Amino acid sequence: MNPRPKILLIEDDAGIAAALKKDLQTEGYEVAVAARGDEGNARAQNEPWDVVITDLKMPGLSGLDLVAQLHAARPKLPIIMMTAFGTTETAIEATKLGAYDYLLKPFDMGEMLDAVAKAVASGRLMSEPLDMGEVRTAQSAIIGNGRSMQAIYKEIGRVAATTVTVLIRGETGTGKELVARALYQHSGRAAHPFIAVNCAAIPETLLESELFGHERGSFTGAHARRIGRFEQANRGTIFLDEIGDLNLSTQVKLLRVLQEKYIQRVGGNEKVPVDVRVLAATHRDLETAIRERQFREDLFYRLSAVTITLPPLSERTEDIPQLVRYSLLRAAAEMDVPAPAIQPEAVAFFQSQVWPGNVRELENVVRQSLLLARGFPVNTDHVQQAYARTRKPVATPNQTIAGYLNDLLARAQYGELVGARSQMIEEMERELFTRAIQLAQGNQAKAARWLGVTRTTMREKLVHFGQHPAAVDPGEA
Ligand SMILES: Nc1ncnc2c1ncn2[C@@H]1O[C@H](COP(=O)(O)OP(=O)(O)OP(=O)(O)O)[C@@H](O)[C@H]1O
Ligand SMILES: [Mg+2]
Repeated sequence: MNPRPKILLIEDDAGIAAALKKDLQTEGYEVAVAARGDEGNARAQNEPWDVVITDLKMPGLSGLDLVAQLHAARPKLPIIMMTAFGTTETAIEATKLGAYDYLLKPFDMGEMLDAVAKAVASGRLMSEPLDMGEVRTAQSAIIGNGRSMQAIYKEIGRVAATTVTVLIRGETGTGKELVARALYQHSGRAAHPFIAVNCAAIPETLLESELFGHERGSFTGAHARRIGRFEQANRGTIFLDEIGDLNLSTQVKLLRVLQEKYIQRVGGNEKVPVDVRVLAATHRDLETAIRERQFREDLFYRLSAVTITLPPLSERTEDIPQLVRYSLLRAAAEMDVPAPAIQPEAVAFFQSQVWPGNVRELENVVRQSLLLARGFPVNTDHVQQAYARTRKPVATPNQTIAGYLNDLLARAQYGELVGARSQMIEEMERELFTRAIQLAQGNQAKAARWLGVTRTTMREKLVHFGQHPAAVDPGEA
């Protein structure tokens, strides 16, 4: 289902083009090169691409005109612009004309690969069609015909066409991002950009600049003006994922943007009007965060004009058979194998288990079962084995990091484990938090300071890893 992303590189310098092409190919992209602006523009408009990377100065058509024309013709196709150092104003112009990102030459390849990966993901979010309620093909869909999901579809239908802010809540893996995409695709803004920002994935110090942009010289490292995601999403939709992780100072700024409908870049005074529909999501308990003064109550009310709360999988077990069949179709398409049958007893096993990771966890076990079945119908043995394996920890006490990584990678290589990275993070975090709290002799504030996390995070992690007094003895909490 995920064929290799296709990239069109428009660059007249044959040396740069060849080097970039080679690195992008190594990374798994399919790359075509156009040496002229006009030729590049024609190809970009008439062939399917995931991302277009363009130079600024080229024969035939300038990069800026190209961005303007291409963005008007194919507004959902992400364009990355490269410009030589010193032409920052042009880069800003390009972003305003609709370029997704820009890089100043000389850039390092890591930066470029990062930008491309983000652009591919963003483009796919915008363009992959989304079905609701039923399995037709292996493409993205929101699955579930039970009563609780029916209510969600109605809710989506009711608010999609409005510009009201929507807060999407629910445990991890319940489909919050899917709902955000559905709201966007069914809105009057579907022809304009959808920009997703994961607030938890961006370091606190950079988040404001990511959202609102910054002026040159506003902080160390701000060599040039930068247009933030809000400005980029103008006339479109911005999806603020993991909003519960926003720090207090950024919360204040966000509240102001929602109220006044303009942004101010970091270090700047200019009030830039923005017309952006805001969708937000979080798995956190915001009411508790408000009580602990980690989240502003006024912002909460502003965001939650409409709230859609996704039910955990345990509250919609009637949807599990359909989800299993759908995940099987998708997993088979991803691995490029025909989708096998699945025995009814195996489906029943899925229905009988608990799924703290909700649909995401169920998808992992389905994928794993498919591997174990090796083309034969999936039976209960496969599923039980898959279920056990995806839960079995890799880490053992006193193991060296190198040994641990070897084991982890070996198991990933032989298909015994899906999501090696998230498993590693989980296991390393467990060790880190457990040791820190022991070393701090139970003093959570101290341990939180050492690890550079908030006290809320500290507590959540300890509960998660079963190290919190409240989790050990719930009767006393
Ligand atoms: N109702 C559903 N129908 C089909 N697939 C679903 C559904 N809900 C979730 N999924 C799938 O489960 C996975 C996780 O969904 P998603 O990323 O939307 O969860 P989330 O609520 O944003 O989780 P997190 O809080 O961890 O970010 C995705 O692969 C998604 O396609
Ligand atoms: Mg999510």
